[in-house]
Amino acid sequence: MTTQGSDAPRREIGVGLIGLGVVGGGVARALLERRDYFARRVGAPLIVRRAAVRDLSKPRAVELGPGVLTTNVDDVINDPAVDIVVEVIGGEEPAGSYIRQALQAGKHVVTANKELMAKSGPELLAEAHSRGLDIMFEASVGGGIPLIAPFRRDLLANRITSIRAIINGTTNYILTDLARSGAVGHALRSQGIEPPPGGGFAQALAEAQRLGYAEPDPTNDVEGYDAAYKLAVMATLGFRNRVRPDQIDTTGITKLDARDFQYAQELGYVIKLLAIAQVIDDGIVARVGPAVIPQSEPLAKVDGVYNAVQIEGDLTGTVLFQGRGAGADPTSSAVVADLLDLSHAIVLGGRERKYWGPEEDMPVLPLERLETRYYVRVIVSDQPGVLAQIAQTLGNHDVSIAAVSQKEADASAQTAELVVMTHRAREGAMRAALRDIEALPVVSGVSSFLRVEG
Ligand code: HSE
Repeated sequence: MTTQGSDAPRREIGVGLIGLGVVGGGVARALLERRDYFARRVGAPLIVRRAAVRDLSKPRAVELGPGVLTTNVDDVINDPAVDIVVEVIGGEEPAGSYIRQALQAGKHVVTANKELMAKSGPELLAEAHSRGLDIMFEASVGGGIPLIAPFRRDLLANRITSIRAIINGTTNYILTDLARSGAVGHALRSQGIEPPPGGGFAQALAEAQRLGYAEPDPTNDVEGYDAAYKLAVMATLGFRNRVRPDQIDTTGITKLDARDFQYAQELGYVIKLLAIAQVIDDGIVARVGPAVIPQSEPLAKVDGVYNAVQIEGDLTGTVLFQGRGAGADPTSSAVVADLLDLSHAIVLGGRERKYWGPEEDMPVLPLERLETRYYVRVIVSDQPGVLAQIAQTLGNHDVSIAAVSQKEADASAQTAELVVMTHRAREGAMRAALRDIEALPVVSGVSSFLRVEG
């Protein structure tokens, strides 16, 4: 292991980068441009000793000097001058193997990898701890928004009871566009670009891609997986209890209909993709999905590519973190903060790092245990007694109606659209009621089923 003891004054901290793309490049640039300032803060300069890239000939925005770039990750991991390995390539593999190899080589690790930390974080933290090392991952959730460090330090005295988050910028951009324009496309038009035909979600996504907010393959974002990874990381840390991504009930935004945005607005609500984990009774429930929230809620006002995380602690009450959740500068801010923290510890000679993996053993409960309110849009035959049948079916499952309104009627098809808001009900009861409603001869279909969160 390269970490020197307290009796040997540090002349420098060696940094090794795996990945020199948007985030890696931002980190390298910050370390170069702010070198003197960081050296004063830490007590030794941070120097990028090696950086593994796929293509040596690709032009780089930052000049790292001769011999620093390599295509062989082993050159980074096994370089004795490297104290901290920074993994910024993302994905489960080969990133996971590289991080394990770095730990075996005695290096601390900084990573921005939400998928890996969501799926294997506790094992990696335990492996690091057993070697007197640390893995830091502030950049894995919410880009430049401080979240991991507050969970780890500032909120430690609390029992955290809930985490509610808008944690995916791509989907928040799309939903904001849908809510603002109704027909969507206003952001493209404002740039002189005619949006693709079709309206609704597809158009908003195309717009987000053309403006550079959404990835060319936006599946992870729009299906909610990216938000589920981030929620798993936060919940595991906040509740000190393992929450795996596959335990999070996850629904994306692809099935949303522009009409729901209009109806939600008329009722005083907005639709957001929320990631929520909360402690109920004897366990945890966690979900990612489009949700209807009152316009007065702080999260309802978080628009565009912004992220926000609202945390309930038993001592703090509600705390809200908000900011830019992606991009080179915010994400490199988080990576560099972790680098400075680790570097300072190395300079002070500290080799023992505190273990901060999960310690509790609460079960993650099925979502059927959740109790909340619901928004349902149903297409029904426009004839007498239909509303009574819907109300009766909900009543059969102990679901009480808070408000109901009839929207557009299609005279030629003799159908009408009903929007029902319920009082609090168990998700299990609500799902059973919806199955029965769908089976009613007077019902053409349940078009929307959204949780009312707030
Ligand atoms: N794709 C993510 C988002 C950013 O849209 O928020 C990286 O986590």
